Amino acid sequence: MSTDQSAPPTADADGAPGQTALDVTGLGLGPTGRPMPDFPVPPPLASHGPARVIALCNQKGGVGKTTTTINLGAALAELGRRVLLVDFDPQGALSAGVGVSAHDRETTVYTLMVDRHADTRDAIVSTRVEGMDVIPANIDLSAAEVQLVSEVARENLLARALRPVLDDYDVVLIDCQPSLGLLTVNALTAAHGVVIPLECEYFALRGVALLVETIEKVQDRLNPRLEVDGILATMYDSRTLHSREVVARVVDAFGDDVFHTVVARTVKFPDATVAAEPITSYASSHPAAAAYRQLARELIARGDAA
Ligand SMILES: Nc1ncnc2c1ncn2[C@@H]1O[C@H](COP(=O)(O)OP(=O)(O)O)[C@@H](O)[C@H]1O
Ligand SMILES: [Mg+2]
Repeated sequence: MSTDQSAPPTADADGAPGQTALDVTGLGLGPTGRPMPDFPVPPPLASHGPARVIALCNQKGGVGKTTTTINLGAALAELGRRVLLVDFDPQGALSAGVGVSAHDRETTVYTLMVDRHADTRDAIVSTRVEGMDVIPANIDLSAAEVQLVSEVARENLLARALRPVLDDYDVVLIDCQPSLGLLTVNALTAAHGVVIPLECEYFALRGVALLVETIEKVQDRLNPRLEVDGILATMYDSRTLHSREVVARVVDAFGDDVFHTVVARTVKFPDATVAAEPITSYASSHPAAAAYRQLARELIARGDAA
């Protein structure tokens, strides 16, 4: 890992407890180079639903989609929001990450896609996080894309499957697979908003133009309400000039669409994955947990979640 000696003396990527390593300049500027607003703890909700649906999307793998889905979901649940996670990647990493074994489950998101008589509630499993449920996926889902080629309105199948349960939740987070194929188009068609995680490395922006083009096509043809909620910089290392340059470039390209919240690179995430727990419970006082809690508050402050 390259370390830039001229970097300001800030917390290392693992930070210090109680500090989120967000004020990297000491001038009140956040890691995105903009003044860091205060994101207050929102009041509890008096009633629940209907849910706003958010797709976590980037056709590049390993950028933090699944990690963000789990931890943003858990942080929203801590705020009293009712959260449904949808594992929409045949690899099933989200399901495993919340401790749900999906390989032998009868009803998964695949069933909901291919069997129009399937009951969405049969696919929902509660997680150990209070207020957070999941619709798991397993490798069966990899067949869906081919199987659905000749299906009527094949882009609308996930939206249709989610409709009966939207009133039960405040937020639905869909963890997309790393592709722009039919499954991702289904997620975008079901969604109100898209969150795009970007890894803070040199080629982070490569491919984003294609993703934006796909989002625009879905807006045009399938889902006019769809909007980009925000770009989330992940795996940020405040010690490296490189990370800071990447974030600056992302802000140049996307302006205020970039979340003020940035998620630092820390081994706590892979550790939490092994423990099949969100970071908010696995290492509740770690700065990485604070980052996802802040992201939840930022999302709510922006009006992108209840
Ligand atoms: N902020 C982070 N710091 C360090 N490792 C991370 C971070 N976010 C995710 N990871 C790890 O990187 C890998 C890829 O993340 P993941 O969320 O699965 O990406 P995607 O779903 O986009 O493929 C996983 O092993 C995960 O634990
Ligand atoms: Mg993933």
